Amino acid sequence: MPHVAAWTELEAVARRDAEARILDQFTADPERLSRMTMDVAGLHVDLSKQSWTRAGFDAALALARAADVEGRRAALFDGEAVNATEGRAVLHPALRAPGGANFHALGEPVSADVDDVRTAMANYARIVRNGSETGATGRPFKAVVHIGIGGSDLGPRLVWDALRPLQPEIELRFVSNIDPRDMAEALTGLDPETTLVIVVSKTFTTQETLANAEAAKAWLAQGLPDERRDRHFIGVTAAPEKARAFGCARVFGFSDWVGGRYSLWSAVSLSCVIGLGWEVFQGFLDGAAELDQHFLNAPLEANAPVLLALAQIYNVDGLHRPARTVAPYAHALRRLPSFLQQLEMESNGKRVRRDGSPVGRQTCPVVFGEPGTNGQHAFFQQIHQGPQVVPAEFVIVASTHGDTSESPLWANALAQGQALMQGKTETQAHAELIASGASGAEADRLAPHKTFPGNRPSTAILMDRLTPRTLGALIALYEHKTFVEGVIWDINSFDQWGVELGKVLAKAVLKDVAAGAASPGLDPSTAALLNRLLV
Ligand code: F6P
Repeated sequence: MPHVAAWTELEAVARRDAEARILDQFTADPERLSRMTMDVAGLHVDLSKQSWTRAGFDAALALARAADVEGRRAALFDGEAVNATEGRAVLHPALRAPGGANFHALGEPVSADVDDVRTAMANYARIVRNGSETGATGRPFKAVVHIGIGGSDLGPRLVWDALRPLQPEIELRFVSNIDPRDMAEALTGLDPETTLVIVVSKTFTTQETLANAEAAKAWLAQGLPDERRDRHFIGVTAAPEKARAFGCARVFGFSDWVGGRYSLWSAVSLSCVIGLGWEVFQGFLDGAAELDQHFLNAPLEANAPVLLALAQIYNVDGLHRPARTVAPYAHALRRLPSFLQQLEMESNGKRVRRDGSPVGRQTCPVVFGEPGTNGQHAFFQQIHQGPQVVPAEFVIVASTHGDTSESPLWANALAQGQALMQGKTETQAHAELIASGASGAEADRLAPHKTFPGNRPSTAILMDRLTPRTLGALIALYEHKTFVEGVIWDINSFDQWGVELGKVLAKAVLKDVAAGAASPGLDPSTAALLNRLLV
């Protein structure tokens, strides 16, 4: 097992830290706040309310060094076959680097192609936005229907929700689910004459996306003349020949060294470029590029993605906390938890090392969340008083669009972090009950219910403004954090074989549906369910 000694040390220190009070650590280590906070690309990251003591923090850093995070980071940026099970480089940083960069994937230069696609996207978005690119009947486009799923959906959706104007000139609708209701809702109120359909699929084989693309094509065909109708149907893919065969006259490409869940920096976000304009998207790329430089150059002890990753590993493997909740305190960031679920759980929900041997410890925690303050009125009960400790992450925005005061939002976020850390003892709860007029017996009865164990960890990520730059930096921060965790667990964060079996079995079930009966050999439970659904 690689870096055994560093793991053993981390586990030993974590056992001791389990008894330590977070609040006491600020006195024990007067440098704690400066040691565990940092500013990068418009983000302020505060890990000082995490469970680690100074010794835990140092043990986690030693683990990162033993796992050769720096070497693996160099391999990623150098375009080596970091995704070894698929023999691919992993180069999403190339997609946001300033023009004229010099990235290579497996030795082949890629930056010129990246620049060309950016230019093509910017030009196309410009003519759609200014109305010189028109539909089949000569009318300008007023809406874009973006069809895609997983990495071809979650990132662009997050970006659009985060940055969209309240009254956009061009409306974006997203369709991902194979449930026809999703498409029906998206198309409601749209006019085929003024609607552009963008089909986004890295592989162009995804069942849900192809079914939805067929439905959208039929909808366009009903409402438009044959001539010039293909102007309404655009493909974005790493398999351009498949997109053309499907009927996309205009195709924007990206390469297989872009992982699906890391692809929002590519033409996958064409819809957002049309909806927001190239300048906004460029700002988004620039923020991520700034974060890339920080990740590449900052020493590990002051490296935001590295320390975020270490805090998570400390919680998961050191303190046996297999879940994390993420609460963005900004309505505009409401899609962040869903985006992170794919980014982190599809990347690091793995049980074997790069060499195929078992990892033998917990890897990616369950990631879940809701925007603040909504989550507070739902599952936060468990975070505060449940027996399991669920580390929390608060993404706090001082001002989303600079027009209103968000202080009630961030005041709540700060209060949650405080409450989790300091808790309330039974003695305090008892005294409060007496002070509010309860009898001694009543206070005895209720005090245990009003007690908060406290000493629960949280991370705060603050941004003064939600801008294209800070959004880009935030997403890149999470991407690199996910990568560092994968390095330390020694897993391949860039394949996703775990989603394949279900896809294959779904095809077999569909065959049974076509045949009208469960096939022999199907397990009794699935056969019974299928037969019931077939009635
Ligand atoms: O099934 C999982 C997955 O392959 C994801 O990794 C990917 O983001 C999503 O499906 C969509 O894939 P595609 O872009 O090829 O349609």
